[in-house]
Formats: sequence, C-alpha cells, structure tokens
Amino acid sequence: MKDRLARLGLPAAAVLSIATAVLAATGHLAAAVAVLGVALAVALVGLHLRLSVMTREQRARSTRMQKALADHDATARRQTGVVRADIAAARVHLDTLPSDVVYLQRLVDAVTSDDRPLPALGHWAVTTRSVLAIAEEIRRLGRPVTILDLGSGSSTVLAALVVRARGFGGQVWALDADPAFAEETRGYLHGHGVDEFATVLDAPLIDVDLPDGSTALWYDLAGLPDIGPVDILFVDGPIGAIASQARYPAFPLLADRLPEGALVVLDDTDRADERAIVRRWLDVEASGRRLEKVRVQGRATLMRVRSAS
Ligand SMILES: C[S@@+](CC[C@H](N)C(=O)[O-])C[C@H]1O[C@@H](n2cnc3c(N)ncnc32)[C@H](O)[C@@H]1O
Repeated sequence: MKDRLARLGLPAAAVLSIATAVLAATGHLAAAVAVLGVALAVALVGLHLRLSVMTREQRARSTRMQKALADHDATARRQTGVVRADIAAARVHLDTLPSDVVYLQRLVDAVTSDDRPLPALGHWAVTTRSVLAIAEEIRRLGRPVTILDLGSGSSTVLAALVVRARGFGGQVWALDADPAFAEETRGYLHGHGVDEFATVLDAPLIDVDLPDGSTALWYDLAGLPDIGPVDILFVDGPIGAIASQARYPAFPLLADRLPEGALVVLDDTDRADERAIVRRWLDVEASGRRLEKVRVQGRATLMRVRSAS
C-alpha cells in the first residue's frame, strides 16, 4: 500500500497542478488556490513516501551485499584451508621422496634384475609407500600368501615380483573393471615373467547389494574363483569418480574371505572420500569381523582384521 501511494503521489500532484492551472485560467481563483494547496500536500506526502521506500530498498540491497560478501569470505577461507593442506601434503611428500626412492630402488633390485620398464608408481597407480607396506607384509608372513588387488596395475606387477622373489609361493589376484587396463597389466606380468604369480580378472562394475540393505556400483565377483583366505587386501579401485565412497563395499563384501590378522590397505586416504570410508569401516562389523587401524603410510591407511567377538 505504502509503495503504491509512493508511486501515485507525484503523478497525482501533477494532475492536481494541471487542474489548478485550468481553474485559474477560467477565473475560479479561490478553487485554484485550494486545489494548489492540495497538490502541494500530495506532492510532499508522495515525496516523503518515495524517499522512505527508496531507503528501505537501499537497506535491503546493502544487507544482501553484506551476506554475499560474508559467503565469499567463507568460501575464500575454505579454499585457503584446502590449499594450505595441499601444500603441507606436498611438503611431506617432498621430504620423504629421497628415502622412498632409495627404498624402492632396494626393493626393485631385490625382486628383479630385468631392466624392462615397470609400470609407473604414484598418481593413478600405487605409491612407493604402499608397495613397501605390501612387500613388508609378504616378508613378515614368510609363507605362501594370497593377495587380492582391487584395481590392477603397478600394484599387481610389483606384488607378483615380491612373491616370486621371496620364494614362499603365493598368488596375487587382481580385479579390473577396465578390460584394456587389465590387458595392459597382463602384458607387464608376462613381460617380467611373473604371470604364474598373478592373475588379472575382468570384473565389470555391477549393482551389488550390501549387508546394510543399500546397493552400490562395485566389482562383479562372479569370475573370482575360490581363492581361499586372503592375507592382504589392497583396495585401489574402483576409481573414485564412479560414485561417492566407491570403495566402501570392499570390506563388507569381502570380510568373509579375510581371516583374523589379514592386512587391509586402502589407498588414497589423503582424499576426504577415502577417509570417510576408513571411518565407516572402523565402525562396521561384517561376517563377524572388524577392522583395526594400524597406521597411515604415505597416502594409504593400513588396517588389520580382527574377530568381532
Ligand atoms: C587407481 S587405479 C588402480 C591402480 C593400480 N592399483 C596400480 O597400482 O596401478 C583403479 C582403476 O582405474 C583404472 N585406471 C588406472 N589408471 C588409469 C588411467 N591412467 N586412466 C584411466 N583409468 C585408469 C583401472 O581400471 C584401474 O583398475
């Protein structure tokens, strides 16, 4: 109503002014003076109302601007936090790089004298630290080992080389959702003469049912034969981009194959999504098993299987 009056005030005063002029021109001076008075009053009220509407609009605009600035500030703070964390992680990586190089060189020298190229480590592939953790577990067990590698590649080839070099026997089973990538890994295994120590299985991603009643896109285990108890489960797939917490199903769906004491290594726990998976795994019981955190090594988190009872 106030807005309407503010809008109508000045046009109404203009109409009244015209009426004043007409009355004056036609000799109705008294009426002209009266209408002029009304016109002035209407103009004043109209101006006052227009001013108060403008002030209110200006206040609302400034509140909106303040909120936008506060949102912008919060976003900038969040982004600064992310960049700081990235820089800190990069510093840790740089600090540990020389020792990683030395330890990896020692490991590679110990497991192969073949100078054919090995698949790259880091970035998409397993990191040196995770390879060292797997190699150390194979050494510690000192008996035939069964390794299940979710997401084939460098991890499969290096684990197979370590199994062969240790000489206790054992087998690496790798699942890959990407047939081309699986074939590339088979090529490396063959090239390094370790295909008898590792099998890469094509495992397309399908909808799977989880024990909690939910469904998820995850590996089709139909092609995985009975491989017996798994000593080391390395979880580096499926790729995170397919869904949020895409690797979560690994523990609930494979727990019945993991004996007490088995080592579970989840890669990429420098990412929030994988850290959330660790939290959920440490909280959940599956097939009478729980997971206990051992340590964070590089960008992987190491956990041990414990009996839930
Ligand atoms: C994180 S990768 C697994 C890497 C593997 N554990 C290794 O150490 O090399 C997970 C899956 O992503 C796919 N993948 C790996 N590298 C890729 C690349 N460079 N581009 C696209 N897909 C890739 C493969 O299907 C692989 O199984």
